[in-house]
Amino acid sequence: MTFSCSQSNVKIFKITDKTLEIAKNYILNDQLVAFPTETVYGLGANAFSDEAIRAVYTAKGRPLDNPLIVHVHKDYDLSTLIYDDNAYAKKLREAFLPGPLTIVYRSKNAVSDLVSCGLNTLAIRVPSSESAQRFLKYLNLPIAAPSANISKHTSAVTAEHVYEDFGDTIPMILDGGRCEGGIESTVLDATGEVPVILRKGLITAEMVSKVVGNCVYAGNASELNKRSPGTKYRHYCPKTTTFLFEKGDYEAVKKLYDVSVNQGKKPLVMCTKKDEPYLEGLNLFSLGENGCQMASRLYYGLHEGERYDLLIGIKFDVNDEVTLSVENRFLKAFASSESSN
Ligand code: TXA
Ligand code: MG
Repeated sequence: MTFSCSQSNVKIFKITDKTLEIAKNYILNDQLVAFPTETVYGLGANAFSDEAIRAVYTAKGRPLDNPLIVHVHKDYDLSTLIYDDNAYAKKLREAFLPGPLTIVYRSKNAVSDLVSCGLNTLAIRVPSSESAQRFLKYLNLPIAAPSANISKHTSAVTAEHVYEDFGDTIPMILDGGRCEGGIESTVLDATGEVPVILRKGLITAEMVSKVVGNCVYAGNASELNKRSPGTKYRHYCPKTTTFLFEKGDYEAVKKLYDVSVNQGKKPLVMCTKKDEPYLEGLNLFSLGENGCQMASRLYYGLHEGERYDLLIGIKFDVNDEVTLSVENRFLKAFASSESSN
């Protein structure tokens, strides 16, 4: 599907001063505007407005106990929104922001109560992509934005992915091309003495520790559910039948592939570069060979998989923390797979 501003019913716009002015009007009228960040597309709403935040939950079909991240431009005065209790948070901001790190602080309750679903904290993100900065600077408002996908579906990394999920239910999608980072920001709780990572991402515990001396991943699932309610829900699932195979189980992959082709179906195999030589002749979507490449390609590949009758995933080696973050999303995306063994 292609879109241009001359079509009627247009939803997707390139970012210009003119379209930013239109976006601002929508946001000030409690409507939703999708915008690109360096990780995934966000579904933006005025964080001060109860009505706008309610619209976010409704549009996404999002459970009402899953709090939202507030996005601000890099020069926004955070002291109006949060208490900056721990000195390490400043060091993290200096080291990693703007960038794919969301920091959870004690809230001053300046934004709508619905943003944090009754928690006394507020998650704040300063995205690094030029498009996101331009949008946030123009609005000069805290913008609450979950990933711009219907709840449980794969996050959007292109404007077209956003359109496929929301169609005409939102008035405007700002198009900044394909998101480079590819998986959502790391969510880090900075309310305690030690920084705790609640959601894995491209900024890892190892990277945080190098800057502030220590950092841990949140422990077991029930602790995580309490501190970051979103983590308990199903996430990232493509809308196609999926199968998941163990590392290196190429014979089983080929067998399933052949069976499905013989049934007149079109399969796609999501693999890594290492797997490619073993799968010659099959339709492949390769995630590449290192954590950042894999992150950048994962959601795009899951969306590509939706053009096929089934998507076959193969587990991969995890030798570094960025790949661990990719694996976290990959396993959730394939969690409802038909069992391969
Ligand atoms: O990269 C990203 O973070 C993207 C882009 C659009 O910025 N946004 C995103 O938002 O992934 P969302 O809503 O899909 O995920 C937000 C995550 C959820 O796991 C939620 O539970 C957690 O952040 N979260 C939000 N506020 C929180 C808070 N106050 N305390 C703990 N966790 C929080
Ligand atoms: Mg999400």
